[in-house]
Amino acid sequence: MVQLSTSFFLLGALLGLFLLTPVLMAPTPASMCTALKTLNDSLSHRRRFMKHNLPINYTIRVHQKEIFRLSNISRLRLQVKELDELVLQRLWFQVNQGVLKKIIRVLPERHLSYQYTHTLETLFRDAEGVFVQSHRAEIFQQELPETIQDIWDCLTEEPDRVSESSWRFASPKFLLDSFCHTMYCLFSECFANAEAPQDYCHISYWRKGRKKDLQPES
Ligand SMILES: *[C@@H]1O[C@H](CO)[C@@H](O)[C@H](O)[C@H]1NC(C)=O
Ligand SMILES: *[C@@H]1O[C@H](CO)[C@@H](O)[C@H](O)[C@H]1NC(C)=O
Ligand SMILES: *[C@@H]1O[C@H](CO)[C@@H](O)[C@H](O)[C@H]1NC(C)=O
Repeated sequence: MVQLSTSFFLLGALLGLFLLTPVLMAPTPASMCTALKTLNDSLSHRRRFMKHNLPINYTIRVHQKEIFRLSNISRLRLQVKELDELVLQRLWFQVNQGVLKKIIRVLPERHLSYQYTHTLETLFRDAEGVFVQSHRAEIFQQELPETIQDIWDCLTEEPDRVSESSWRFASPKFLLDSFCHTMYCLFSECFANAEAPQDYCHISYWRKGRKKDLQPES
C-alpha cells in the first residue's frame, strides 16, 4: 500500500514536471533566441565598425534615456515593485530602436560602417517582430508601471520638444556595448551556458571580458 502511494506520488511529480516545462520555456521561445543569436553575431563586430572606422572619441547626441545600461536594469528592478521582465524587454527594444536610428543618421551612405549598421538594424527589427509575435497582443496594451511609462514618454517625445538638458553625448561603441550587455541580461535564457552559468546582469561578468577586448584585432 505504501509502495503504491509512493509510485503515485512519483507519477504525479513527473507529470507536474512535464506540465511545467512548457510554461517555463514560454517567455523566450526558440525562434526568439535564434533571432537574438544572429543579432549577437553581428554585434561581435561592433568594435571595428563603431570604433575603428570612426574618428577618435567620436560621439553622437542621444536622449538621456537612451543611455540604458546594466545599472539601469538593476535600479529599475529595485525601484519598481513586481516588475515584469517583459516590460524591461519592451523597454530594451524601444531604447535601442532609437539608438540605432541615431547612429544611422550620422553615417553617410558611402561610410565603411553604413552597411553594417543597416544590417544590424534589420536583424534588430527581425528580432522585434518575433518578440511581438511570440506574445499575446493584449500584453502590449497593458498599462506600464509609472516609472517605466515616464521613461517611455521621454523616449517617444518629439526631438524638438526635448529640453536641452536631456541630451547626452555618447560614442556609438559605448551605445552598442550597452545594447549588447543588456540584451544578454534581459534574454539570458538565450545565452545560457549550461556548463558555466553566468550572471550577465552583473557588471563584473563584462569587466572580466575587457582584457580580451584590449588585444589588437587580427
Ligand atoms: C580622446 O579622449 C581621451 C579621454 O578623454 C583623451 O585623453 C584624448 O586626448 C582624446 N583624443 C583625441 C584625439 O581627442
Ligand atoms: C540610466 O541611468 C542614467 C544615470 O546613471 C540616466 O542618465 C539614464 O537616463 C538612465 N536610463 C534610463 C533608460 O532610465
Ligand atoms: C555571441 O557572439 C560571440 C562572438 O561571435 C560568440 O563568441 C558567442 O558564442 C555568441 N553567443 C551565443 C550565445 O551565440
